[in-house]
Amino acid sequence: PVPVVLDVDTGVDDACALLLAALHPGLDLRAVTCVGGNAPVDDVVRNTLLVLETAGRADVPVARGADRPLLERPVDARHVHGEDGMGELGWGPAAHDPDPRHAVELLRDVCREAARAGRPVTLVPLAPLTNIALLLRTYPDVAQGISRIIFMGGAANVGNATASAEFNVFHDPEAAAIVLDAAADLGIAVTMYGLDVFYEPVVDRALAAELVAVGGRGPAELGGRLLEFQHERFAREASTIGDAGAVCAVLAPEGLTTQSLPLRVELAGAWSRGRTIVDRRDWTGDMAHDPHGEAPVRIEVALEVDGERYARLWADTLLGAGER
Ligand code: BDR
Ligand code: CA
Repeated sequence: PVPVVLDVDTGVDDACALLLAALHPGLDLRAVTCVGGNAPVDDVVRNTLLVLETAGRADVPVARGADRPLLERPVDARHVHGEDGMGELGWGPAAHDPDPRHAVELLRDVCREAARAGRPVTLVPLAPLTNIALLLRTYPDVAQGISRIIFMGGAANVGNATASAEFNVFHDPEAAAIVLDAAADLGIAVTMYGLDVFYEPVVDRALAAELVAVGGRGPAELGGRLLEFQHERFAREASTIGDAGAVCAVLAPEGLTTQSLPLRVELAGAWSRGRTIVDRRDWTGDMAHDPHGEAPVRIEVALEVDGERYARLWADTLLGAGER
């Protein structure tokens, strides 16, 4: 199995991602770190513990991290994820405690251990990148223990928090810029699973009902109820599995079409702050520099996804069938 670490702001779709990462036999979930984003960080910690308990994975360490962006004021997304950040399902309370370490310290320890063991982890941030920025700047040696970063965030085309910017990058643009810069410096490969693919893997009402019908307050029921919450809230017939798609990309990379492209995070911009500016000009080979002489970072940008496959992979894992 692929060793993975998730950084989350649970979050309806972070919960979907956690269920997949906790249950799929192809993944070895080493730790989960929490950051303020969709909900305040204490709610995120509670939600994350609850999801892992539901998946029978209370053994996975969970740590509390940054409660606010590096510079911006926190803005949550409870209008999207519900007052408790996780669909207002009344699922709880959590019976176990978080790890006493700060998220950055847990990440440091897990990455160093992975480096020692010669089994570097795939880091999957699904939230504002505050914890990861602090980690890479404070303990750059952890790069030895990270095989790659695949993060949910950004967009080559339109945003969601604003017309320009995607929520995770918009929430902490400085952190996103730091992570891309540090990863380039440290030689860590980065894939952006952004809004261009995020909405493609969807679960319809019938499949959500099938998951709920499994019952027993287990992972399938929880996953189904989270999707049903989204169907109701947005009056939709089908809803994205969101962040869970980035975990699918670790399991089934062939379902994702990416392109190596120059990318910058907009840190100024009156109406475009937090935008990920992806340079898709076909002459960038010559022009991928700015007048100030600083080359943009190049990362793998996800442009297309086999949404049906990813949604099926997610649902089948929860239904207990899995995709081997
Ligand atoms: C991202 O922001 C949050 O609302 C979701 O959990 C996802 O990580 C989408 O923009
Ligand atoms: Ca998220």
